[in-house]
Amino acid sequence: MKVTVVGAGNVGATCADVLAYREIANEVILVDIKEGIAEGKALDIFQKAPITLYDTKTTGVNNDYSATKDSDVVVITSGLPRKPGMSRDDLIETNAGIVKMVTENVIKYSPDAIIIVVSNPLDVMTYQAHITANKSRNKVMGMAGVLDTARYRAFLAEELGVSVKDIQAMLLGGHGDTMVPLPRYTTVGGIPVTELIDAEKLDTIIDRTKFGGGELVKLMGTSAWYAPGAAAAQMVESIVRDQKRVFPVCIKLEGEYGIDDCYLGVPVILGKNGVEKVIELKLNDDEMALMQTSRKHVKEVMDVLDNLRK
Ligand code: NAI
Ligand code: 2OP
Repeated sequence: MKVTVVGAGNVGATCADVLAYREIANEVILVDIKEGIAEGKALDIFQKAPITLYDTKTTGVNNDYSATKDSDVVVITSGLPRKPGMSRDDLIETNAGIVKMVTENVIKYSPDAIIIVVSNPLDVMTYQAHITANKSRNKVMGMAGVLDTARYRAFLAEELGVSVKDIQAMLLGGHGDTMVPLPRYTTVGGIPVTELIDAEKLDTIIDRTKFGGGELVKLMGTSAWYAPGAAAAQMVESIVRDQKRVFPVCIKLEGEYGIDDCYLGVPVILGKNGVEKVIELKLNDDEMALMQTSRKHVKEVMDVLDNLRK
C-alpha cells in the first residue's frame, strides 16, 4: 500500500513516522513546498528503521506530485497552524487555497486515492477538498473526531484512574468549541461513564476536551502534533487494512441526523472503500440541539469559503 502525506510539518511528519514504524504502509511519500523539509524528514525516518525495525520505504519530495502517483490514501496536513489568540477559522483564506491546490495535484496523479484532510478549519477544509476532488463523499473525509475523542478518553482515564484502553467514547459535530461529546455513549470497560463520575466532574472534562486544542496552542505557541499525527495514521490503518473500525469522522452529511449539505463529524465504519457506512445514532433532544448548534457554526464557515470562491 502506498500512502502520501502532504505537508511535512509537525503533524505530517508525525503521521508519516507512525505509518512507517507501525508498517501501516509499504511506501510513504512525504511532500512539502519548502525545499529540503520533506526530503530531510523522510530520510530521518528511514534512518530510524534499523533502530526501531521496520521496512517501510519513506521518500520525501519537494512539491513533486509525480512521486505520489497511484497512492492508495493521501493525508493532507499542509497549511498554517494556529498561533495563540487565533481560532481555527482564522486560517480559512490561506489554508483553503493550499488545500485546493494540493487536492488538484493529488487527484491528477492518484485519481482513485482516498483523501483524509487534517488542515484547519477541519470541517470546511474537508468541504474544500471534496468539491475540488469531485469524488463520492465516502472517499474524502476529515480527521478530528479520532483526536477529540482521544483527548476526552485520556482525561477520563486520568480522572478515574483506569487504563485508557478501557475507555470507549463517541463525539459528534464540528472540530471546534461546538463539538458534541456524548456521555450517553461513553463507557469504561462496558460500564456507562455516568455511573462512575459525578455530573460536575464530567462537565469539566467535556469542557476541557472542547478546548483541548487551544490548551496546547497556549502552552506551545503552535498547535499539537503527536496525537493528531497518530490519529490520522489510525484512520489510514483502518482503510489500508480494511479493519472496519468505528470512528467519528468528518464527512458530508446527506440527510443523516436531519442535516443536509454540511460537513460534520459522525460515527462511521472505515474500511478499504473509505467511509463504508455512516452510523446514525438516536440522539435525544439535548444532543440534537447541540448538533444543530455545531451545524450552524460549520455552515457559517462554509459560507465564508463560498464567498471566497466567488
Ligand atoms: P506546520 O506548520 O508544522 O506544517 C505545515 C506544513 O505544510 C509546513 O511544512 C509547510 O511548508 C507545508 N505547506 C504549506 N503549504 C504547502 C503546500 N502548498 N504544499 C505542500 N506543503 C505545504 O503545521 P502543523 O502543526 O503540521 O499543522 C498542519 C495543519 O493541520 C494546520 O492547519 C493545523 O491547524 C492542522 N491541525 C489539524 C488538526 C485536526 O485535528 N484536524 C490537529 C492539529 C493540526
Ligand atoms: C487541535 O485540535 C489545532 O485542531 C488542532 O489540536
